[in-house]
Amino acid sequence: MEAAPAKTERAAVAERLLTSALRTSYDPTVEIDWDAPHTPGAYWLPPQRSSLYGTPLWERLSEEQRVDLTRHEVASAASAGLWFETILMQMLIREYYRADPTTRQAQFALTEVADECRHSIMFGRLIEAMGCPVYRASTVDHHLGRFLKATASGPRMYAAILIAEEILDAFQREIMADESLQPLIRMVSRIHVVEEARHVRFAREELAAAVAATGPVGMAYARLLVGRAAYTIANRLVHPDVYAAVGIPPAVGRATARANPHWRATLRWSAARVHANLAGVGLVAGPGRLLWARAGLI
Ligand SMILES: [Fe+2]
Ligand SMILES: [Fe+2]
Repeated sequence: MEAAPAKTERAAVAERLLTSALRTSYDPTVEIDWDAPHTPGAYWLPPQRSSLYGTPLWERLSEEQRVDLTRHEVASAASAGLWFETILMQMLIREYYRADPTTRQAQFALTEVADECRHSIMFGRLIEAMGCPVYRASTVDHHLGRFLKATASGPRMYAAILIAEEILDAFQREIMADESLQPLIRMVSRIHVVEEARHVRFAREELAAAVAATGPVGMAYARLLVGRAAYTIANRLVHPDVYAAVGIPPAVGRATARANPHWRATLRWSAARVHANLAGVGLVAGPGRLLWARAGLI
């Protein structure tokens, strides 16, 4: 009998989120003027959030190259976002397959898939409008993603969702508030932040319930998988090929970024909220925690 109030609370949260989705949902194909000219000289990312900011390599770049680097870094993050959204949609659909379709939670899960469909179109349009290539996942990550989307459920699934959504969200909240940046990326960020707030709320609620229903063996496996997901997402944020766009060999750019104290601080800043959340429910510990540290997220 004790489970009843928790179920009611989860349903109430899902109900509120469904109402919010009704009020604030955006169709990026009509909301955004994709053909508007870009603002000359404006950055795509606050320069201090560039992976090379503050390094001797950064000092050697011209102002134009620095702007270009942030353009490609945004394209890389959008490519990673797109890739992860595809994984996420499949995980939610898999969960829905065994859910009760009359519950508000199941209905919100479908609403979230609908949001992500629009987001992936938006990120595709963004990459195209920026004139950048799609920065694809490595073969290893591609297969890890395939494994995750085919198998993850419960705490593993909601924790992986939260890591990807909250890390990107930290960057996007800063971008939407920064009037010096390109209007296009600010608009894309604003739409994504508004709709992702619902997904984060839902995932936190569902994660708490999933953790409560998982035994010690399942939690140990979840901690490891969650650590691997955090590692992959952090690593994947800036694809090494972005450096080639400004004449820096990818391996040199990547090594410089990894050793860059500014970039390491940015990674920790971006993961602070999700790390606190997941550590709070016992999902960051043991060998999995080492992966968070190796990724520079803590
Ligand atoms: Fe999204
Ligand atoms: Fe989302």
